[in-house]
Amino acid sequence: MVLKSKDLLGLRGMTAEEIEHILDTAKMMKYVITSNNKRTPHLQGKSIVTLFYENSTRTRLSFELASKYMSASSANISSSVSSVAKGETLVDTGKTIDMMGTDVIVIRHPQSGAPHLLAKHVKASVINAGDGMNEHPTQALLDMFTIREKKGTLKGLKVAIIGDIYHSRVARSNAWGLVTMGAEVALAGPATLIPPKMETTGVKVYSTIHEAIIDADVVMALRMQLERQKKALFPSIREYFRFFGLDENRLRLAKKDALIMHPGPVNRGVELSSAIADNEKSVINEQVTNGVAVRMALLYLLTRRGINEAAD
Ligand code: CP
Repeated sequence: MVLKSKDLLGLRGMTAEEIEHILDTAKMMKYVITSNNKRTPHLQGKSIVTLFYENSTRTRLSFELASKYMSASSANISSSVSSVAKGETLVDTGKTIDMMGTDVIVIRHPQSGAPHLLAKHVKASVINAGDGMNEHPTQALLDMFTIREKKGTLKGLKVAIIGDIYHSRVARSNAWGLVTMGAEVALAGPATLIPPKMETTGVKVYSTIHEAIIDADVVMALRMQLERQKKALFPSIREYFRFFGLDENRLRLAKKDALIMHPGPVNRGVELSSAIADNEKSVINEQVTNGVAVRMALLYLLTRRGINEAAD
């Protein structure tokens, strides 16, 4: 099976079959990460460039390690040290990278739609590593991989996503992906941080954390994205934690074996207490490992497109 598009720009419109195929491929890639010989020839002769216009630790490093583990040539460039700082446009920067024989460009950008624009102008496959408030598809794929690994399936599970939904590309990608895979998605956060018409994606929206968490199989806390909030959208961090922070009392409402997740970076004492972040039910560290596996799978599948197409 091949992925339909040359690019991975979002989970909106992706089929359950495609998501399943990526997760199955990531499962095989995880054996490489956990082995003593982290080197495969899957991307030999391929060139991967990461182009980041926003800060990142997990996403950028996992793409770079994924490239190295699979023997690709890889390079990274950030806006602060590139000719972007001299006024070059995104399209011109992208074409410059493309003309150096790059097979995949991984881009993070503060503007929603930037990866889509880039993809139209380059021959390379483009992977969206987070665009503004729109989507963060590789994060949602690693979240779904982690849930499936622990629970065996996504279908029929209740996944509560709590926090700053409005600014969260992670919430949007997870909403598209999880609903497609047959999960029930329950969102909760301060009214000022819930986007209008969110229900049209097939999720349920609650005004209290209790309603969202009750009987949940998975509780995912989101980072409060203060850098995207132009004005105060809730009274204070203390108030936020009081009404929407995850603590031991609130977690008791979820199922006994509920998973605790967070895309990172975690703000301890804001989205969740330290006790919850380090709780035995927390899979936050495993999400990081699985991020490498999922990104290996995506790089592999996108660079195989031309090769597989004739056979499939
Ligand atoms: N979850 C996530 O995207 O983390 P980084 O910003 O560190 O990449």
